[in-house]
Amino acid sequence: MITFVLTRFLHANRYPLRSKTLRMRAAISLTCAALVSAALALASPSAIAADVPDPVADAKAFQKFFTTKFPKLKPEDFVNGPYSMNEDLHRQWEEKEQFPPYDFSLDLGKEMFAKPFKNGKSYADCFPNQGIGIRQNYPYFDEKEGKVVTLELALNRCREANGEAPFSYVKDEMAALTAYMAFTSRGKPFDIKIPGDPRALEAYQNGKRYFYTRRGQLNFSCASCHVQNPGERIRAEVLAPALGILNAMPIYRSEWGGMGTTSRRFTTCNSQIRGVPLEPQSDEYRDLEYYLSYVSNGLPISGPGARP
Ligand code: HEC
Repeated sequence: MITFVLTRFLHANRYPLRSKTLRMRAAISLTCAALVSAALALASPSAIAADVPDPVADAKAFQKFFTTKFPKLKPEDFVNGPYSMNEDLHRQWEEKEQFPPYDFSLDLGKEMFAKPFKNGKSYADCFPNQGIGIRQNYPYFDEKEGKVVTLELALNRCREANGEAPFSYVKDEMAALTAYMAFTSRGKPFDIKIPGDPRALEAYQNGKRYFYTRRGQLNFSCASCHVQNPGERIRAEVLAPALGILNAMPIYRSEWGGMGTTSRRFTTCNSQIRGVPLEPQSDEYRDLEYYLSYVSNGLPISGPGARP
């Protein structure tokens, strides 16, 4: 019954209504749908349960949406952004990987990572496993602080704790460091945790809300482009699917003539819809990164990446 009403509703919405009768029927279907959901809300405990956030179910549905939309792709194929979307693009990706344009950044990052701070300590001292092979665990929810901590943020906190000035979140140094850390984690599946702390679930929910909320003069949400239209072209660019969208970060973009961090990509996408970007590493962006990484759990880290 519900499926029937919903199909009717979607159908009615998708095609222009030519006759009065059709419009009437659509109105009746809508009323039915409203009645049915009202009845469900009153009667069924499962309808109440549906209001409780369920990240595990979310991630499952999210991944299923994309693997159904692109039945030829396996979940792990999605980690190469626009290059996962068709065979021609995939060939371009393979060619690029032979002489990766992010190599200079990777070398720089490796060197920076190994170089001690003025106080003799180094990045390795700030991270589990000396910072090697841990990218898949970021961002994490810090229960002491009650907030999400991203890798970029953790790197700058490490610098500041050791008396060094923080790096810009959108420039080359931060990209080089995260490129190196991603590289040492290649192939490791995203393993983002939501601990029992209710604030962690709230951060996840905030990130999810941010992702689906329309904004900017163009009134687009992140999902308008990366869920509804992956594989489509917008100007010269092919839109990346939201599944696996952070696995390749940071990325080299020919269009930028250089590297870009996750912060740079978020602010650029906000500007593209003529919206006002937030401060890099603001709570909203941290929560957004938490949500987007969580729903890609299980997909391998592939960064650093290269893009057209
Ligand atoms: C108007 C469409 C549009 C909207 C809305 C949009 N983006 Fe993008 N996004 C793009 C384009 C174009 C690119 C570059 C091509 C590509 O990789 O998708 C991109 C790339 C990205 C990438 C890099 C993907 C990769 O593999 O190279 C990330 C991450 C991203 N967007 C996140 C977001 C987030 C988060 C939001 C919401 C704050 C958002 N985008 C909103 C158009 C959009």
